[in-house]
Amino acid sequence: MARSFQLPTLLRNDEHGSLARPGFSLPHWTWHSRVVHFAAAAITATTLIGCDDGEGPTGSEAAQRGKTVYMSVCIACHNGDPNEDGTLGPAIAGSSLELIAAKVLRAEYPEGYEPKRAGIIMPKFPYLEGKLPDVTAFLAEVKR
Ligand code: HEC
Repeated sequence: MARSFQLPTLLRNDEHGSLARPGFSLPHWTWHSRVVHFAAAAITATTLIGCDDGEGPTGSEAAQRGKTVYMSVCIACHNGDPNEDGTLGPAIAGSSLELIAAKVLRAEYPEGYEPKRAGIIMPKFPYLEGKLPDVTAFLAEVKR
């Protein structure tokens, strides 16, 4: 959270949520950190592509694709290291596809599952349906 205070005031012009998608409003500091992380993810992606013809990518291709999704969407609230708690979302490394699908597609938990953090802050992201096996692969691979 401290990160938001280091951002240049130049970025602080979205008082009316101009950066937010309709129906998906977040505290504006969250969007600032998302922009920063998006840039970081773009750099990471470039680096990975650069490695492809050399030693080969680390981890499976599915996990690499899942990482891209994680770093562009989930990181707005979850930690850049999924083993650690994020600003809003808890650590989710090693989460099952069942749990991820329930949260991401339906904003629910599988029956009998005890949430790591109480609340219903996380919105649904139904457009990610086809990407969830990749996200699960990434979260399994980074689990410590
Ligand atoms: C807007 C912030 C936000 C974004 C973006 C977000 N989450 Fe969350 N997530 C949360 C919060 C907060 C919780 C805790 C429960 C709640 O309030 O909904 C949570 C909980 C979870 C849980 C349950 C953890 C547990 O074991 O109890 C999973 C799994 C999860 N998120 C996966 C994801 C994935 C995958 C993405 C990216 C596609 C994502 N989240 C994007 C905020 C977010």
